[in-house]
Amino acid sequence: MLIVDKIPQAIQEMNALRHPRRIVGLVPTMGALHEGHLSLVRAARLNCDVVAASVFVNPAQFGAAEDFDHYPRNLEADAALLEKEGVALLFTADPGEMYPEGYATFVGQEEMASRLCGGSRPKHFRGVLTVVLKLFNIFRPNVAYFGQKDAQQVVMIKRMVSDLNLAVDVRTMPIIREPDGLAMSSRNVYLSSQDRRDAARLYRALCAGREALAAGEKDPGRLVETMRQVLGGGEIDYVEAVDPRTLLTPERVRDRILLTLAVRYPGARLIDNMCLNSDGTETLC
Ligand code: PAJ
Repeated sequence: MLIVDKIPQAIQEMNALRHPRRIVGLVPTMGALHEGHLSLVRAARLNCDVVAASVFVNPAQFGAAEDFDHYPRNLEADAALLEKEGVALLFTADPGEMYPEGYATFVGQEEMASRLCGGSRPKHFRGVLTVVLKLFNIFRPNVAYFGQKDAQQVVMIKRMVSDLNLAVDVRTMPIIREPDGLAMSSRNVYLSSQDRRDAARLYRALCAGREALAAGEKDPGRLVETMRQVLGGGEIDYVEAVDPRTLLTPERVRDRILLTLAVRYPGARLIDNMCLNSDGTETLC
């Protein structure tokens, strides 16, 4: 596995790996890799001829009061995992490589950027879309893999790809969970043991919403109420039932519905979601 930390070098190496008959897959990450990230790499390996991954903790998507400085970093362990999974090229860069002095251009999205997580993280998605577009331009992948874990992120990336006519196929992969249902996250390590136990309620709340939907409840407000009743310890940031295309609450559940929530614990803010068909079966954004 090649490890590169400069953009021109990444472009050059990708040009050498690219070939008309080779499908190039990209897995963007911020590192501190776990089975959730690795599931994306495995899907890419299965479906692509060449797989590139990036580990870049993107300052542009962190707010001033957020955990950029404390975000877990472990490049050596990450590189070993990616190498074992058959990644051909790992890109990792300093913030100054991606955002040199005088950097001025950001990708914004109307409406959706202020919904859900955008409510408490106003510049987050501007930072995400900007870095993802830069990575798409550096790697020019045929296929890029993202997790359902960050549902709003993948919905907004798909919208960017469609709106800006980008030639990349964005694939969404299912959420990988701990045995008690907690969605795997690099931030889970910052939970106290009591909050870690309580955090299993996020998944239980989503399951309660799914059961209610399967039993015929089509009122989004009632689905939200059902989920809220299961949540406990942490401070609720939001609990919503939205249309996965627009991220707006529909009057009634007609086809797909995204149950999504964010809960703040002292150690970490956690997000989780379930994208469901109207009969309660699971699907992906
Ligand atoms: P990061 O949080 O490192 O996640 C990288 C990718 O792994 C994302 O697509 C995310 O949805 C996916 N992922 C995380 N936990 C997962 C889980 N438990 N199951 C399945 N997939 C999971 O998301 C980001 O980084 C950044 O915003 C990024 C897209 C890299 C842009 O900086």
